[in-house]
Amino acid sequence: SEQGCLSVVVLGASGDLAKKKTFPALFHLFAQGFLQSGEVHIFGYARSNLSDDGLRERIRGYLKGASEEHLSEFLQLIKYASGSYDNREGFEKLNKEISEYEMSNKSESCRRLFYLALPPSVYPSVCKMIRTYCMNPSGWTRVIVEKPFGKDLDSAEELSAQLGELFEENQLYRIDHYLGKELVQNLLVLRFANHLFLPLWNRDNIDNIQIVFREDFGTDGRGGYFDQYGIIRDIIQNHLLQVFCLVAMEKPVSLKPEHIRDEKFKVLQSVNPIKNDEVVLGQYEGYKDDLTVPDDSNTPTFASVVLRVHNERWEGVPFILKAGKALSSRKAEVRVQFKDVPGDIFRCKKQGRNEFVIRLQPSEAMYMKLTVKKPGLEMATEQSELDLSYGMRYQNVKIPEAYERLILDTIRGDQQHFVRRDELKAAWQIFTPLLHDIDAGRLKAVPYQPGSRGPKEADELSERVGYMQTHGYIWIPPT
Ligand code: BG6
Repeated sequence: SEQGCLSVVVLGASGDLAKKKTFPALFHLFAQGFLQSGEVHIFGYARSNLSDDGLRERIRGYLKGASEEHLSEFLQLIKYASGSYDNREGFEKLNKEISEYEMSNKSESCRRLFYLALPPSVYPSVCKMIRTYCMNPSGWTRVIVEKPFGKDLDSAEELSAQLGELFEENQLYRIDHYLGKELVQNLLVLRFANHLFLPLWNRDNIDNIQIVFREDFGTDGRGGYFDQYGIIRDIIQNHLLQVFCLVAMEKPVSLKPEHIRDEKFKVLQSVNPIKNDEVVLGQYEGYKDDLTVPDDSNTPTFASVVLRVHNERWEGVPFILKAGKALSSRKAEVRVQFKDVPGDIFRCKKQGRNEFVIRLQPSEAMYMKLTVKKPGLEMATEQSELDLSYGMRYQNVKIPEAYERLILDTIRGDQQHFVRRDELKAAWQIFTPLLHDIDAGRLKAVPYQPGSRGPKEADELSERVGYMQTHGYIWIPPT
C-alpha cells in the first residue's frame, strides 16, 4: 500500500488475551485482505522460550473461519522473539528483527504497531523499552493498551502520567472492546440519524434507562486476578460507562473522533457522585471456592449502581448500570423506558410502558415494546414488539469481531473508538469514592445463587428508582 510496510508486535504473545483475541483478530483482517503478505509482519514477544513454530502451534487452534491456505500463509508471517519486559537486550533484539524486515521490504516509510496483551503492572517498563529501543525511524509508532488502567483515580492518573511522558496522546490507543461492537457503534447513528428519537430522547419522555451486562459463567480460573478488581472495575467503570456515554451524550459537532470524545467527556463530567444507598453489591455463592480468592473476600461479582446526570436533558432520569457474573443468562442490553401515558383511557398501565431495547449481544437486535389491540372481538390491549433482529434482517452479513475492527482503526489512525485520557480520568472520578468504600468494607456484597437473576435487592433498587417490569397481557374488563 501507499503507506508502506507494517510490523505488528504482540507483547505477551503466549498469554490468554493474545491467543483468544489478538491473533484471531489479526487473522481475520488478513483473511479479508486488510493485511497482506509482503506488506505485514507479525512479531510475537514474551518471556517464554519458544521457537517461531512453537508460537504458531500454540495459536493455531484459535484461528478459525478461513481456509487452510489462508491459515498457513498467515502463520508464516509470524515470528517469535523472547525477552523480559524490563531490560534492553530483548527489546534491542526485537528492534533488530523489525528493522531487518523493514529493510528487506524496501518501502519508503514503515509503520509499527505495538499491542500490549500484558498485565498493566508492566506497562510502564514495557513502554519505556519501546520508547527507548523500538521507535520507528521512518513512520508512525502506535501502542495499544488494555484495561485495567489503574485501580482508582490516583493510580490511573499515575499510569497516565507515566505513559504520557513516553508517548503522545495520538500514539496511545486505550482499547475498550465494547466500543468495537456493532450495536454499540450503531448507537450514534440511531440517535442522531433518526428524527423519530430526537424529540423523545430526554427527561420529558424517558422515565429511566438500564444498561445491563449478564454472564452465565463465573470467574473461571481468573479468580485471583478478578478478586483484585471486582465487577465494577472489570465491566461497569469501562464497558458499561462507555455505552452510557453514547446513550446520554449530546450531539457531537461532527463525526471527527475529537468531537465525539469531547461530548463523551462532557457528559461524564455531568454525572453526580454515586450515592451509596443507590448501590447493590452481590457475590455469587461458591466464588470463594477458588483457591486464589481469599476466604474473607468482599469483592463484588455483581453490582447495580444508579448514575444521576445533572444536566438539562437528563436531570431526574436514573441510569441503572448493572453487571453480574454467574447469572442465569448471557446478555448485554440497553433498555430505555418511556413514561406512562397520561390520561390513560385503556386502563392498561399495569401491562407496561413503551420500552426501547437495544440488545448488544448475543443475537444483536433492537425492538420497541408497544401496546397494541389484542387481535380479537374485544377492545383489549396487550404488549407486543416492533422488532429488528439482525439475524433476520442481515442474514448474510458477518458481523465483525470487536477486536478486528479496533485493530484496523488503529492501523488507520482513527481514535474515535478509543478512550481519551481525560475521559478515563472522569470515569475514575465517578467510581473512586464508591470503590474506596467497598475496598474498606463499608459496603458489603450480599450472596446470590449462581445461575440466578442476582440479588433480589437489585430488582428492588431498579423498581424503587422507577423501572417498571413489563408484564404480559392483562385484561381489564370495561366498567
Ligand atoms: C472483559 C472482562 O473485559 O470483558 C471479562 O474482563 C468479561 O470479565 C468480558 O468476561 C466480556 O466481554 P464480552 O465481549 O464477551 O461481553
